[in-house]
Amino acid sequence: MREEVAHILFSTEDIQKKIKELGARISSDYQGKNLILIGVLKGAMFFMADLMRQVSIPVIIDFIGISSYGESSKSSGAVRIIKDIEENIDNKPVLVVEDIVDTGLTMNYLLKTLRLRKPSSIKICVLIDKKGRRMQNIPLDYVGFEVENQHVVGFGLDYRDRYRHLPYLCTLKESLPQVRIP
Ligand code: PRP
Repeated sequence: MREEVAHILFSTEDIQKKIKELGARISSDYQGKNLILIGVLKGAMFFMADLMRQVSIPVIIDFIGISSYGESSKSSGAVRIIKDIEENIDNKPVLVVEDIVDTGLTMNYLLKTLRLRKPSSIKICVLIDKKGRRMQNIPLDYVGFEVENQHVVGFGLDYRDRYRHLPYLCTLKESLPQVRIP
């Protein structure tokens, strides 16, 4: 697996240090509140698991699973919920936890959907902000790292459902037969 990696952008230590900082900020910002963390499957599961363990206030966690309508419509932002949250978020503070915001279309859809359920506030915590590709302006409240327009895998991020388990964030060698970096 390691021989397929082109470049490690952020090591396990870099990521854990950043998550610790984010956890401390979130704990301070939401002091005294009953925060609900909503992780977006599948990519956010690793980030979510580590982040929640760095949050020192009581939190409730939930997950939402979404799927885009096929490859071609990904850029249209047409996504559907394949696993809904179980918590009632009415009048409660919500923090959406995502691995990456790229075009922003997925997050735009998620925000619209979740706002209909009238949370008292809704903010976003994202591990990777790929700002350069944004098609929708999304206010990101907590950001781990910013990356350029390159395909990043590891720590939940996949390439054709592979590489999610890598404990660091990296790019892949373009020469690999199965890799075609968009
Ligand atoms: C990834 C990521 C975000 C979305 C971001 O999900 O987890 O949900 O793409 O892209 P956007 O900002 O351009 O909309 P993906 O569809 O790869 O599913 P996954 O989380 O299961 O890997």
